[in-house]
Amino acid sequence: MRRTPETPAGPTRRDFLRTAGAVVAASSLPLSTIELAFADPHQSFSFAYISDSHIQHIKGTEFVRSWDRGLIRAVAETNLLTPKPDFVMFGGDLAQLGTRAELDHGAEMLAKLDLELHCVMGEHDYYLDLGEYWSELFGPQHYSFDHKGVHFVVLNSILTHDEWTHNRWPSAEQRMLEMALLDNPNGSPFMVGETQRAWLAKDIEGLPRDTPLVVFSHSPIQKLFKSWNFWTDDAEQVQALLQPFDNVNVVYGHVHQIQYNQIGNIAFHSVMATSWPWPYPQSYSQLSNTMPKLTVPMNRADPFFERDATGWQMIDLETGRVAMRYTLNNNTDRTVAFNPITGRPEDTLYQEPGSRIPPQVRF
Ligand SMILES: [Fe+2]
Ligand SMILES: [Fe+2]
Repeated sequence: MRRTPETPAGPTRRDFLRTAGAVVAASSLPLSTIELAFADPHQSFSFAYISDSHIQHIKGTEFVRSWDRGLIRAVAETNLLTPKPDFVMFGGDLAQLGTRAELDHGAEMLAKLDLELHCVMGEHDYYLDLGEYWSELFGPQHYSFDHKGVHFVVLNSILTHDEWTHNRWPSAEQRMLEMALLDNPNGSPFMVGETQRAWLAKDIEGLPRDTPLVVFSHSPIQKLFKSWNFWTDDAEQVQALLQPFDNVNVVYGHVHQIQYNQIGNIAFHSVMATSWPWPYPQSYSQLSNTMPKLTVPMNRADPFFERDATGWQMIDLETGRVAMRYTLNNNTDRTVAFNPITGRPEDTLYQEPGSRIPPQVRF
């Protein structure tokens, strides 16, 4: 397996944490699971995907119990999967406010995984110390690796303008709080940034155009809803680098809800959180949003189930296209798969307008 731009040498704190502590699984909260299955059975494989646990420190040894339970359950169920996934992705927002206590506590839970782990940076992990401690625990913030014919790329998509990051706030804690609020005019748009875009261009430069690409980011590499940072400011520039490939799949966390879209050759799929679901932006009528820019209309199954948009999913990747099979805690299972006739991912159950549940119908 190739891992760039750097692979930490020798035992890391993560290795230490893998062997530390005992965690008991005893809850009913969710995980995300991905399975990649190619037409060639020798190339079929699966991996698990867990995201957005938002481990939150209260004081001393106290943490928010619900968020802990979500991650504990996800780890326990991932370890029990048959067949065993080849590796596990964690999609970012491990912590709520990026503290060492939260990152350590989350890392201890992730250390119970008996599988190789790859991590994506979330804004809640980053904006206290600009990713310093997270990197000590989990390694590089952007990198790539190859696995059974698929090229995987991990980006840190939650960077923003230097002025906002370095000059705006009187303390690191204040900066973290401002970025942690979902609906905050003092926030700043996320971006991948020039350095990573240059790295990405070089990373994929020599790859045959029919190599399946799977890109992991925390924020969507598309512009959905700026007020909540369901947004990446340089999304078009990143998309332009990926468009020449035949089959590109971008899988992201952050939004805590089911989203899917197709732009050119790129299919976009979100994964669900282990912590809580967000409403869809269009149901939040106080704010304008840019959801109509989506090329594929979407709807959640039912916004009034507390656990809607939390759960787990299996992904089949056949001929390089993701088919996402969502298993929701309180709702009917859903499949979002590429429709070769329309050329985009669609929900097999709720895609037709008449089958959708309109937002806020119970108010
Ligand atoms: Fe999150
Ligand atoms: Fe996030």
